[in-house]
This record gives sequence, C-alpha cells and structure tokens, in this order.
Amino acid sequence: MSKTVIMDHPLIRHKIGLVRRKETGSKDFRALIGEIAMYMCYEATRDLKLQDVEIETPICRTTVKELSGKKLAVVPILRAGIGMVDGMLAMIPAAKVGHIGLYRDPKTLDPVEYYCKLPADIAEREVFVVDPMLATGGSSSAAVQMLKEKGAKHIRFMCIIAAPEGVERMQKEHPDVDLYIGALDDHLNDHGYIVPGLGDAGDRIFGTK
Ligand code: PRP
Ligand code: URA
Repeated sequence: MSKTVIMDHPLIRHKIGLVRRKETGSKDFRALIGEIAMYMCYEATRDLKLQDVEIETPICRTTVKELSGKKLAVVPILRAGIGMVDGMLAMIPAAKVGHIGLYRDPKTLDPVEYYCKLPADIAEREVFVVDPMLATGGSSSAAVQMLKEKGAKHIRFMCIIAAPEGVERMQKEHPDVDLYIGALDDHLNDHGYIVPGLGDAGDRIFGTK
C-alpha cells in the first residue's frame, strides 16, 4: 500500500513560505528549492533498509548499520525538477541521475514528451522522481508511466507544492507510487496554476520570465 506524506517539519514549512514570495529573485529561489529538496529527501528516505556490518573502530570491533538493498536514482522532470537534483545528491551522493523532458502544453495542459535518458539499470533501482510542482498531475503521471515502461518497479514522487487535483490523479493512476509533498495547496486556477502556489517554477528557477 503506497503512502502520501505531507511534510510537517518546521524548517521545510519556513522555507516554502520564503519560496512562495513574489519578491524572491531567481538566485534565492534556486537556493531555496535546493535546500527544501535536501530536507525533503531526508524525510523521504526514512524507510530505506539497513543491514548490520562488523567494523573496527580505533578502540574495538563493533557492529554498525549500513544502507542495504536497492541502489538509488534521482529523476528530475525537466526543466524545473533540475532545481531539486543537487539537494537530493547532497543527501544521497551515490545515486545515479536520469532525466525526463516534459512540458505542459499551455492550452490543453497535457504533457508533451521531448527527452528521456535513464541509468541503464533503472529497473533495479529505487527511483525518486522530482519536480517542484504537481498541478493537474499530467506531467508526473506521464513521467512515472515512462519509467514503468523502461522497467522501473520501485518509484517515489517528490514535489514541493501540490494541488489536490494532482494528488488525486497520481493516487488513481499510480497507486503503487509513494508521494512526498512539501505543502498541499488549495486548488488550480483556470490556467492550471496552483493557488496560492509560487507561480511558474521553471521560469523562477532559470529566470526566463
Ligand atoms: C511545470 C512543473 C511540472 C508541471 C506541473 O513544468 O515543473 O512539470 O508544470 O504541471 P502538471 O501537474 O499540470 O503537469 P512546465 O510544463 O511549466 O515546464 P518547465 O519545467 O520546463 O517550465
Ligand atoms: N507549473 C508551475 O510551474 N506552476 C504551477 O502552479 C503549475 C504548473
């Protein structure tokens, strides 16, 4: 049974408050998205498996814990997901990185695929798909579908801000995927933007508007 986790850590909530502000410029916005991703990664990796390993300290032999099980992969949805990658890798530096290119058609709001490059052994990895925004859910659902078609079986999705419409869609179309959400917002407006949201994440990260 998959789960939906909404972050309640005060540091995450504080930083999401900063990132929403319209006066936050690209440089700070980018840094905040990276920091939030790092804290969220900490929460989203809480249930990774550990195994006992015998080691020697300078004093004696002892048993310590070490990560076991599947290797990890981080897969950002381009463009905005790129803003979360460094924060994720700060926590899980050995993870491989794949890229899925999708943009939302501004009229239909349907996702349009333009790129997909994944680690060759993606089927054996625990995959963290990252995108700051989950709005209609079209992009995230399509990205997860692409990963499944390439053989990935263990997929988690992380976003900083979600709309209820997107969460419902992900739960319906991919009930096996755990969702990690920084903040759950109120609704989508007529243009498919999250309210109150933070605007266009890609444009704010890359300064394209
Ligand atoms: C944004 C965002 C998500 C998508 C969410 O990307 O980063 O990928 O919209 O909307 P959805 O849930 O309704 O699909 P956008 O299409 O603006 O592309 P960009 O990251 O290249 O700016
Ligand atoms: N994509 C964004 O970047 N922001 C939204 O509010 C919705 C989709």
